[in-house]
Amino acid sequence: MAAYLHEWLALLVRWFHLIAGVAWIGASFYFIWLDNHLREPPTWKKQKGIKGDLWAIHGGGFYEVAKYHLGPEKMPGELHWFKWEAYSTFLSGMALLFVVYYLGSPGYLLDAGKADISMATAAAIGLGVIAFALALYEGLIRSPLAQNGKAFGLVLYAILVFAAWALFQLFSGRGAFIHVGAIIGTIMVANVFLGIIPSQRALVDSVTQGGEPDPKVARLAALAKLRSTHNNYLTLPVLFIMISNHYPMLYSHPWGWAILAAIGFITAFARHFFNLRHRGVNRPSILVVSACLAAALIWFVAPDTGAGASTANAVTRISDTTVTQILEKHCTSCHSSQPSHPAFQAAPAGIVLDELSMLDSHGAQVRQAAVVTHYMPLGNTTSMSEEERQQLGQWLISRQQSK
Ligand code: HEC
Repeated sequence: MAAYLHEWLALLVRWFHLIAGVAWIGASFYFIWLDNHLREPPTWKKQKGIKGDLWAIHGGGFYEVAKYHLGPEKMPGELHWFKWEAYSTFLSGMALLFVVYYLGSPGYLLDAGKADISMATAAAIGLGVIAFALALYEGLIRSPLAQNGKAFGLVLYAILVFAAWALFQLFSGRGAFIHVGAIIGTIMVANVFLGIIPSQRALVDSVTQGGEPDPKVARLAALAKLRSTHNNYLTLPVLFIMISNHYPMLYSHPWGWAILAAIGFITAFARHFFNLRHRGVNRPSILVVSACLAAALIWFVAPDTGAGASTANAVTRISDTTVTQILEKHCTSCHSSQPSHPAFQAAPAGIVLDELSMLDSHGAQVRQAAVVTHYMPLGNTTSMSEEERQQLGQWLISRQQSK
């Protein structure tokens, strides 16, 4: 029952996190779009201090949007801020990290073949790494390096790649992926909380007080612009990383951390194309290079179809009894119609392995998960040996051939 309720909790928190994230990124895409489509306003609007305006139709009505140079003469009674989208994405993301990784089945975060640490230690390391990376970013953005966009981007990228590599040595692939995603997401929310919102508050104060704009407002605005540019480049990578942790072909690859680094580069570079185009610079070569790199990555990640096939035709036929024993020892505590593992109340991913015949419908997936990538058994908590993996692989191949 506890496992069942835990699943519901994870599902509901994930649902909320997704909705909050859609609202945040959606609003930020919308405002980027608005800024890029503002047109020069008619003179009477210019006289009011409006620098750009735009007409749109949506949901059965016309909308007239106007953007001021600085602010309206008088502060409107009601002003909408866009900050809770970001904050609630962060809070629900943290909740999800706890529910799934720190309080869920250890196999999601730990890998018996890697560091031998307790869940509590792993959680402390995970949270510590996120906090440390954030502190590093906050230090860098206040340093002179922040003035050099390219150099800053390179340093930040190097830090993230190093974090990915280090986390891969400690955690399961999936645990490492989610923490890199969490680091990036946390930096993005901090950009809102520590830079963008304070700058907006200063602007509102300055408009409320009237008179000459405070030079502090311009300084804060420049920093906020920088942070918002960083968020813009991080958006596509963070979304990709968040969903790629549902694809074992990526995170359980032996080069998982490098794959993550490549994904980060390709997605941020592709974003650069759109940013340039918004500024009127059309450079399709960027998209072509991104696409070529993506194709190279897909090729690199492709499973070695020979794994487990080396001695498939050799005399040593693997008996059904051996494979049944392997499944019982390493798989069916979870992959059963009635799992005995306390963390699961139903067979994970819908894969039931109680009987050998059930391997027929899931053979390819099982080979991929337990023979090619070692993603299964989850976190290798049952210490499945390489020999057992090869036996399972050979059996699956000979079964396929005999059909
Ligand atoms: C500790 C519990 C546990 C054990 C033991 C376990 N699995 Fe899994 N398995 C899971 C979970 C949880 C998932 C879903 C993972 C996800 O959502 O990414 C899964 C998913 C899978 C998948 C689907 C992977 C995909 O492509 O999404 C396959 C195939 C699989 N397991 C095979 C096996 C085999 C074969 C064994 C034994 C060698 C095994 N599992 C042992 C928990 C377990």
